[in-house]
Amino acid sequence: MIYTNGRDFHLQNDRISYIFRLLPNGQPGHVYFGARLPQRDDWSYAQPLGEYPNTVMQPDNWSYEWVKHEYPTDGSGDFMEPAFVIEQPDGSRVSDFRFVAHTVTAGKPKLAGLPATYTETDDEAETLTLELCDELARNRLYLSYTIFRDHPAIARSARFVREGEGAATLRRAYSATLDLADSDYELLTLSGAWSRERHIHRRPLVEGVQGVYSARGASSAAHNPFMAFLRPNTDETHGEAIGMSLVYSGNFDAKCDVGTLGITRAHIGIGERGFAWRLEQGESFQTPEAVLVWSEDGLGGMSRAFHSLYGRRLARGVWRDRARPVLINNWEGTYFDFNEQSIVEIAASAAELGVELFVLDDGWFGHRDSDNSSLGDWYTYEKKLPDGIGALAEKVRATGVKFGLWFEPEMVSPDSDLFTAHPDWAIHVPGRHRTEGRNQYVLDFSRREVVDYIFDLMDKVIADTRLDYVKWDMNRNITEAFSLELPPERQGEVLHRYILGVYDLYERLTSKYPEVLFESCASGGGRFDPGLLYYAPQGWASDDTDAVERLKIQYGTSIVYPQSSMGAHVSASPNHQTGRLTHIDTRASVAYFGAFGYELDPRKFTQEERETVKEQIAYYKARRELFQFGDFYRISSPFESNVTAWASVSRDKSRALVGVWQVLSQPNPRLTRVCLAGLDPSKRYDYGFGVASGAELMRVGVSLREIALKIRRWGDFLGTVLELNEVE
Ligand code: DGJ
Repeated sequence: MIYTNGRDFHLQNDRISYIFRLLPNGQPGHVYFGARLPQRDDWSYAQPLGEYPNTVMQPDNWSYEWVKHEYPTDGSGDFMEPAFVIEQPDGSRVSDFRFVAHTVTAGKPKLAGLPATYTETDDEAETLTLELCDELARNRLYLSYTIFRDHPAIARSARFVREGEGAATLRRAYSATLDLADSDYELLTLSGAWSRERHIHRRPLVEGVQGVYSARGASSAAHNPFMAFLRPNTDETHGEAIGMSLVYSGNFDAKCDVGTLGITRAHIGIGERGFAWRLEQGESFQTPEAVLVWSEDGLGGMSRAFHSLYGRRLARGVWRDRARPVLINNWEGTYFDFNEQSIVEIAASAAELGVELFVLDDGWFGHRDSDNSSLGDWYTYEKKLPDGIGALAEKVRATGVKFGLWFEPEMVSPDSDLFTAHPDWAIHVPGRHRTEGRNQYVLDFSRREVVDYIFDLMDKVIADTRLDYVKWDMNRNITEAFSLELPPERQGEVLHRYILGVYDLYERLTSKYPEVLFESCASGGGRFDPGLLYYAPQGWASDDTDAVERLKIQYGTSIVYPQSSMGAHVSASPNHQTGRLTHIDTRASVAYFGAFGYELDPRKFTQEERETVKEQIAYYKARRELFQFGDFYRISSPFESNVTAWASVSRDKSRALVGVWQVLSQPNPRLTRVCLAGLDPSKRYDYGFGVASGAELMRVGVSLREIALKIRRWGDFLGTVLELNEVE
């Protein structure tokens, strides 16, 4: 519901309220974001302008400082971080956007060319658009707010329109600012590196600017485009949590500024570093979407709100709600060393085990025997596959599995036909050294002809092979960002235009091939973000397939992203990333909580392992809806404990699958009980060793020793899944 009298604006659903009101000068001032409040007409009492020192509240003679803003401007009295900066044609950087009008519409309009949350029917959400104008500069600003009926979430974005003569340049254009009334919060971010993606980092706020960013041309493994503000006592189940997530895959800033009087100003949007967008008369700029979630049920409540919104109203297409196939990927099984015979053997061997989809990874095209050639040459490597990729697809299908292929569409190898023909298509600054990453360059996806060319090649392969699945990889970041197509004054647009090109190719391929399942990837989880979730309902969470490392990666990823979005595979032991030896049951127990598969050579299994894997696949298939789409409850954190536990619970709470892992073995260990979460306290559950009520299982818990005895193994890296079923 959106209430407004043209001065006060209250967006409200069953759980939350988001309120702002016009300041005396016509700029929107923030009032409140939190638990649902009853409507009142006049919110002036909650915006007591006189409470701030040195604040003169006369419409045209006042100070902006210490007032909470919706979308703060720079250079006229508010000295904290602004939401945007426009360099006007005269070189000045001051703006003054004042309210002109507003509209309220049912549903949620699309953002042209950009991924965004959506509605399926108009009654699922309402959208408020605020129109503001800077009369002197003749710029217009539209601030958009959507409130969802069924989610404690607000989606926001901004659009700038240049109406005056001469060009203005946007030097910063964030998607949303949120001014919090105090700074008694801790900042949580998901940070890491290749193979250690999305680890949880939590620290108290201090005065000044703090946060995370990417300047790599991709959202990156270093930081996810997300941050949360938690009260110091907020835990998994209790306390306030505010999440801010950016639906974007390129450079971003997610940061906050704690001011002198303790206001916390949070911003999320396109990364400012290197960004400059020129607006000629009549041109406009649309920011990506930011999603703000509020929860008083702790971090777990916030995560489940993101999961349901992102799982059902950001991910799209036929695969959004469909159980995902059990796949086998040959990457860790063969790397580049395969031929038609070995691939068909692997597929046949996997099919016998119950695998449903075979994915041929890197090395099937051009003359690619290692990572130093052929990217861009998306046609069969005939030395390996003499009958062509189409024939291979048929032979693989004949074994009883579907067929998927790996591409790295945005890249070109210096040693490739494509680079020989079009060296100018690789991003570079003329005359300067071109930095290579993994022996490759990045194609200039800001150019339409480049995207068209790659579309045509991929289109042909997908049609020839009648492909069922695409793994879209991206293995290096962008350096020497520059486009030969753009004039000097537009070079600050390259990285955003690049991402728009990526989205354009995804849009064209996913709409032409709606039945194809897309999985995003970027050296593992280097671009695992909400932007790509819109096109690809699952992403390869990390190149690190070690079960123990995966506990942290999947636990951290679950802060924002649902289980169905996380590609998770069983690989060989010793693990290729860590050298760690783990039992195959432990490896499977972690990978079950995602889009499950195997990444190894099944021909190397012993007969006993084959039986085990057959059982694993049958077990997973019988429960995969619950593993992939259940409500997720984190129980014990791998960042804080030797014991990790989490649960996927059915919506009616009649069933649950609880993963429990003990990383290191301990002699004569302390008695440990794992208190479950997310159950119905009044229901009774068979949990495998007996029957207990939900209240008992959540308060008294299950004995870790009992679990270990059930597994009948000991040593390091133990893990299992408990299955809970309601009994009368
Ligand atoms: C990086 C990916 O993350 C891997 O899964 C694999 O596809 C390789 N690239 C192939 O080069």
